[in-house]
Amino acid sequence: MANTNLTAAKKAKNDEFYTQYHDIEREMNAYLEFNPNVFRDKTILLPCDDPEWSNFTKYFAQNFKTFGLKKLISTSYAIDSKLAYSGAMSTHTQNQHNSAGNFYQTSLFELNCPQFDPTKTNSHGKIFVLTDDENRDNRVDINDLQWQYLDGDGDFRSDEVKRLRDEADIIITNPPFSLFREFLAWIVEANKDFAILANKNAVTYKEVFPLIASNQVWCGRTEWSGGLWFETANLDDVDAVIDGRNMKNVPSMWLTNIDHGRRHQPLPLMTMEQNLKFSKHKEIRGKDHYEHYDNYDAIEVPYTDAIPSDYGGVMGVPISFLDKYCPEQFKIIGCSYDYGRPEGWNNTINMSVSINGRNIYKRILITQRSSNS
Ligand SMILES: C[S@@+](CC[C@H](N)C(=O)[O-])C[C@H]1O[C@@H](n2cnc3c(N)ncnc32)[C@H](O)[C@@H]1O
Repeated sequence: MANTNLTAAKKAKNDEFYTQYHDIEREMNAYLEFNPNVFRDKTILLPCDDPEWSNFTKYFAQNFKTFGLKKLISTSYAIDSKLAYSGAMSTHTQNQHNSAGNFYQTSLFELNCPQFDPTKTNSHGKIFVLTDDENRDNRVDINDLQWQYLDGDGDFRSDEVKRLRDEADIIITNPPFSLFREFLAWIVEANKDFAILANKNAVTYKEVFPLIASNQVWCGRTEWSGGLWFETANLDDVDAVIDGRNMKNVPSMWLTNIDHGRRHQPLPLMTMEQNLKFSKHKEIRGKDHYEHYDNYDAIEVPYTDAIPSDYGGVMGVPISFLDKYCPEQFKIIGCSYDYGRPEGWNNTINMSVSINGRNIYKRILITQRSSNS
C-alpha cells in the first residue's frame, strides 16, 4: 500500500503551490514604474486562483483604489477537481492537519457565509468580484469582495470562465504548470494583456519561443536566478519549512506582454578583446578566440555576460539570455533544436549546434541590433 501511494504521489501532477505576496508585488511594481496607469480603469481576471488563500486576490483587492481598477474578478477551481487531477487524495486524506491541507478544505470564511451550500462546496468553483466599497467602510479592500458558486468547477477551459476572460482586459495568475501550454494559448487566442508565472523551461516551448522571438511576449522583471519560493500543498514535495509553512522552490519566471523598464536597459558588455583578457569565465579568459560552431556560422558564447559588444556576426547564447534580453540591443534570429519558429523565419536550424563534434546544449542565436538592424 505504501508503495502504491508513493508511486501515485510521484506521478501526481503537482499544481498546488501558492505565490507569495512579495513576489507578486515586486513584479507588478515594475509594470507600475514603467506606466503608473497600467491598471487604471481595467478589469483584471485572476483565474486558477483560490481567493480564500490567494495573495493575488489580496494584492489587487488591497490596491484597488490606488491602481484605479474598474473591476477585479477572481475564480477558483473546485476541491473535487483539484483532488481528482492531482491524485493527491490517495496520499493526503489522512494527513491534512497542517497548512498545506487548507488548500483542499472548505475555508472558514466560506462556511460562515450565508451562501455556503454543502451540495456545491466541493464540486463547484467560485467567483469573487470587487467593484466598489460594498460594506461602506470608506475603503475598498478584500472585505468588499462579493462571491457566489460558479455553475461548473472553475476550469479555465469552461465556457463560463472563457466569458470572464473575454470580459477582462488583463489576466494575471500562477496557472497550473502542467497545463501551461493550453493556458497560454487560451490567453493568446483572446488577445489579452497578461502576466503569468511559468517554469523557466517554458521559453523553449514551441508555443512560447516564437512569441518571444517576435517580441510579442517577454520575460518579466523578476530575475531568474534562485527560482521562486511557493507554499506547497504537496507534502511529498517540500524543500523547506519556513515559519511553519511548507515551501517549495521552483525554477520559475514571469511571462508577460506588459512593458517594464528592465527590458529596455542594454546589458553592459566588454569587447571581444577585453573578454578574452579579463572575463571571469575560465572558458573565455586567456583564450585567443571565441569557439565557432562546426555546423552553423556563429560563435559560441557560453555566458550572457561574455557577449562581446563589438562582434557583428551571429552568436549562440544560453537560454538564460532571455532574462536579460533588451530588444533594442539584440535581435533574436534563430535557435538550435526546434522551439518553433515565428512567421517569416527561415534560419532556425532545428538541430543542436556542435563544436569539434561535441553537442552544445540549447542555444539561442542572436546578433547585435546596431550591426544588424
Ligand atoms: C500553481 S497553482 C497557483 C494558485 C494561485 N494562482 C497562486 O498563485 O497562489 C495553480 C492552481 O490552478 C488550479 N487548476 C488546476 N487545473 C485547473 C484548471 N483546469 N482550471 C482552473 N484551475 C486549475 C490548481 O488547482 C491550483 O490551485
